[in-house]
Amino acid sequence: MSGAFVRVCGLSELEEDTPKRVELDGTPLSVVHTEGEVFAIYDICSHANVSLAEGEVDDCHIECWLHGSRFDLRSGKPDSLPATRPVPVYPVKIEGDDVLVSLSQES
Ligand code: FES
Repeated sequence: MSGAFVRVCGLSELEEDTPKRVELDGTPLSVVHTEGEVFAIYDICSHANVSLAEGEVDDCHIECWLHGSRFDLRSGKPDSLPATRPVPVYPVKIEGDDVLVSLSQES
């Protein structure tokens, strides 16, 4: 169903500031619990084919480990070179211990 929120993992499986890589309908995502919120960002850096989930989280950003671009978890926008294009971010809902993501509307 389009627009549906789908469970990707349990909230209790997420360690604060440690990205978790999941797949939803074949789309790789990094799910990040930080600063009291949960974010879902497309897991591939917009600069090269690198998993963002392997990078570090700080100040609501996730850093690509290869060349160090930092992507805002709220907007997907990079705030430093070499990446210049944003990566998609997706809406997240928490229901009990379930983390739900909708792929239909990038936010
Ligand atoms: S691959 Fe991510 S910044 Fe280069």
